[in-house]
This record gives sequence, structure tokens and C-alpha cells, in this order.
Amino acid sequence: MRAAITGWGIAIPKNRLTNSDLEKRVETSNEWIVERTGIKERRIAEPGETTASLAIEAGEAALKCANITADEIDLLIVATATPEQPIPHTGAFVGEGLGLRCGSFDISAGCAGFVYELVTGSALLTSGSLRHVLVIGAETLSRVTDPNDRSTCILFGDGAAAMVLTPSDDDGPGLISWDLGCDGSSAGLLGITAGGSRVPASEKTIAAGMQYIKMQGQEVFRRAVRVVVDSALISLERAGVTANEIDWFIPHQANLRIIEAGARRLKIPMEKTVVNIDKYGNTSAASIPLALAEAADSGKIKSGDRILLSGFGAGMTWGSAVIEWGSP
Ligand code: UT7
Repeated sequence: MRAAITGWGIAIPKNRLTNSDLEKRVETSNEWIVERTGIKERRIAEPGETTASLAIEAGEAALKCANITADEIDLLIVATATPEQPIPHTGAFVGEGLGLRCGSFDISAGCAGFVYELVTGSALLTSGSLRHVLVIGAETLSRVTDPNDRSTCILFGDGAAAMVLTPSDDDGPGLISWDLGCDGSSAGLLGITAGGSRVPASEKTIAAGMQYIKMQGQEVFRRAVRVVVDSALISLERAGVTANEIDWFIPHQANLRIIEAGARRLKIPMEKTVVNIDKYGNTSAASIPLALAEAADSGKIKSGDRILLSGFGAGMTWGSAVIEWGSP
């Protein structure tokens, strides 16, 4: 059996933060941001919006798209780096909001989170007697981004996207192959250092801004291009296809230059590469499913298309997958 994507939905805060808005806050320029990242604007959650509220909105849209009701979902997985709160897991709030009565758990795998939950959800769906699994990538990165750090505040945005997984035949649409990895020796390159077991939150950590994301951008950039490509090649090989036989490449939207370098090395033309970073910036675990859902809604992706996903993030984690689009 395979797990096919039979419904999808997105949730985007209305509030736009443009490059010219950022020019007023930190020493930067629209030209610098566009040239170095490809980002023109990002969405920022309003005070009442949270990771769970965005996930619920995306989940509702995905259920509607799949034409199923909440009681037909037998498992919920939420991938996020910005959980609703430390305890309980975000899935508890999302399941409640959606009216689900099934098990749920969160996956914390940074920007590779969606690929991780797609693989996990598919494995549980195809090994058990589950009818549908709901996987959601949801983030409010604006809540953990230092508004005065020009090296990160230009990059991150908020949003969510959800996918319904449904059993499909062995040779039907669905997840064909995947590769997951993590190099913990690079954990120090990107993260939030306070608020956990190692450094609990205190007045001192707040004063030092340790509740915010810190990143060694250049080093992350270098490794990102390498892992996006290496992992994608493993998934392609496991699927028994070449990059030539891929209809759409949907990489994690972290930086347009990383996307272009990855596509170039994989020899996938940019016309076959889905890019929406200009509108949303880096939305971490929401980035790949957001791009996938938008490409599906725009009619770009057709039934039977072969799609290559590849992401990377804090950890450093990475994950890639080859899927065939369509309903069982
Ligand atoms: O999904 C999670 C993974 N994260 C990523 O994939 C991010 C990967 N990294 C990147 O996307 C890039 O490294 C950045 C966009 C973060 C930075 O771009 P860069 O081309 O690597 O710039 P840099 O860090 O080498 O900085 C070049 C210069 C520096 O000035 P000096 O030292 O040359 O005088 C920075 O201080 O640009 C400066 N700079 C800025 N200038 C204007 C850094 N941020 C800004 C800014 N506006 N916002």
C-alpha cells in the first residue's frame, strides 16, 4: 500500500510585513533582501493568531478538500518548531479545534518537519487499519524572531498547511520513496538556546535575548545546498527515477539562492521548481506543504505527476521524498 494526498489546505495570516516595512525597523534595504534571499514580503500572525489556530484553519480546509469529516481522521501529526506551548503538544489543541477524537503527536524536525511527518504518517497509515491521517506543518516564527536582528527578521514568516493522507494501491499515487537524516554535530548553527531543560527561561535569558532564533546563516547556507541535493538524489535513486523524470521539484523555501543552487545541481529547470518564498519567506515546517498546496490549487500539478520534495533545517535535519500526485 501507499499513502496518497487526497486533500490539502492552507492558512496564512492577513498581516503582511514587506521589505520596506523592515527598512524602517532595521538597517537593511529591499534590494539587499531581494537579491540575497528572494523574499519580498512575509505574513505575520496577529496577536490572537497562534500556531494551533493556523493549523486548525489549514486542517479544516484540508478536510473539506478531501471531502471527509473529522471523525474519519484516525491520526493527527503536527510538525512545528514553534509549538503552542511547551506542554501539552500542539496536536492536543489542534485536534480539539478540529473536533478529532484520535491520537495525535508533534514532530520537531525544524524545516524538514513536513517530510518527517509525511513519512511517519504514511508508514502508520499503510501498516495499520487507519482510514486517514492528517499531517499539518504550522509555524508562528514571528514569535521567536528578534525583531531587531536584521540577519533573521528578514527571513521568517508565519503560516500553516495541512494534507490528508489516504491509503492507495501499491502502484497507485502516494509516497514512493524517502530519505531522512540529522547531523547533530551542527545543532549549534541554528536554534533557540533558552527555555528548555539545558537553559531554563529566566530574567537573565530574556535580557540576553536567548528566547530568539540565532543562526550562523552562511554556514547553514553552505550545508543546506549540499544536503538538499544529496538527500534528493537518495530519494530519486530509491524511487528508481532520474531527476529528468520529475515533473515538479518542491524544495524548502529558505532562500531563493539555495533553491536555485539545488535545482541547478540536480539539473531540474526552474520552470519545474515551485517557488513562493517571495510571498511568505521561510515558514519552516509549513514551507513545503504550503508550496505544494498552492501548486495544486493553481492547477500546476496534475494527477500522475511525480514530485520531488527536499527540505533541511535546525538540527541539522534533512528530509526528501518522491511522491506521485493523485487520488487512489
Ligand atoms: O530554514 C532554516 C535554514 N536557514 C537558512 O537556510 C538560511 C541560510 N542562510 C541564508 O539564507 C543567508 O546566509 C542569509 C540570507 C541569512 C545571509 O545572506 P549572506 O549572503 O550569507 O550574507 P552574510 O551573512 O554573508 O552577510 C553579508 C553582509 C554582512 O555585512 P559585512 O560583514 O559584509 O559588512 C552582514 O552584516 O550583509 C550584512 N547583512 C545585511 N545587510 C543588509 C546581514 N543581514 C543584512 C540585512 N540587510 N538584512
